[in-house]
Amino acid sequence: MHYAGSFPTTRMRRNRQDAWTRALVAENALHVSDLIWPIFLTEGKGQRVEVPSMPGVFRVSTDVVAEHVAEAASLGIPAVALFPYTPMESRDEDGTEALDPDNLTCRAARALKAAHPGVGIIGDIALDTYTLHAHDGVVRNGEVHNEETVEALVTMSLNYAKAGVDVVAPSDMMDGRIGTIRRALDAEGLIHTRIMSYAAKYASGFYAPFRDAIGSLTGPDRTGPKDKKTYQMDPANTDEALREVALDLAEGADMVMVKPGLPYLDVVHRVRREFGAPTFVYQVSGEYSMLMAAIERGWLDHDRAMMESLMCFKRAGANGILTYFAVKAAKIIKAG
Ligand code: PBG
Repeated sequence: MHYAGSFPTTRMRRNRQDAWTRALVAENALHVSDLIWPIFLTEGKGQRVEVPSMPGVFRVSTDVVAEHVAEAASLGIPAVALFPYTPMESRDEDGTEALDPDNLTCRAARALKAAHPGVGIIGDIALDTYTLHAHDGVVRNGEVHNEETVEALVTMSLNYAKAGVDVVAPSDMMDGRIGTIRRALDAEGLIHTRIMSYAAKYASGFYAPFRDAIGSLTGPDRTGPKDKKTYQMDPANTDEALREVALDLAEGADMVMVKPGLPYLDVVHRVRREFGAPTFVYQVSGEYSMLMAAIERGWLDHDRAMMESLMCFKRAGANGILTYFAVKAAKIIKAG
């Protein structure tokens, strides 16, 4: 009573007192339907090989990919994203294997569509897993050639769509590719094939474990080509990300993506605010591996760190998240 006059009437802690009020006032929620699970593919039979730098993440062969996805499907994960580990002997300077309508991704898409028709299939459109130099496009005179690369991406998109890929996801950052792919799909009557554009994709050091997963680690330090900087964005920029997104939406992108995730939440926020378009974020391999490394050392709690990182994407404004944690997170969400 002594303190009555000076005590706060607004106590922020009241709503935090019980689990039920905390649930009632929660501003964001993470649903299973927010999650997209990236999957690595490999040739062979009965293959399920763990990626060394990504504990708990596997490369699977096409005969077991349907089984690999069964749990995700039964949990209600809406879509998977396919990434092939192309055998080294099938890679060449121009990435011609990308244009084969019977390549690893096309075969996996057909197997998945047959086994799990209700699960969306997202196909990564870029040449890096098919080229020996591991660039996302074809190199001419020491430079990644924009128009010639876009032509290859169009063929890839058509092949993928015909094999059962529902969403083509160009991750190459060439100029003009969204509009060109859209026109080609429409001309072939593939009007329902969606385009998820990697619209704001940064030249990031956080992709290194992914390059391990798809076998595109080149150069003396084995981190992949150094100069993806001529097509991927400078981490210093955000206004530029908005211009990229505006262009891709104008060219016909149905969904846009920001990548990487946690270090770029400001970009996610601005993109969602500015355009209100379906906005996705990729919690990339390096983010996954950082968390897993600390978890393995006992420095972080697996479930808490995982769920918090995913919730932060929702808070920033993402409609959905590509994450290697998708299945583990879905199980926790389902268990309530
Ligand atoms: C290829 C591609 C990359 C990723 C997705 N598609 C790597 C790159 O651009 O070098 C990264 C995904 C991850 O790190 O999890 N164009």
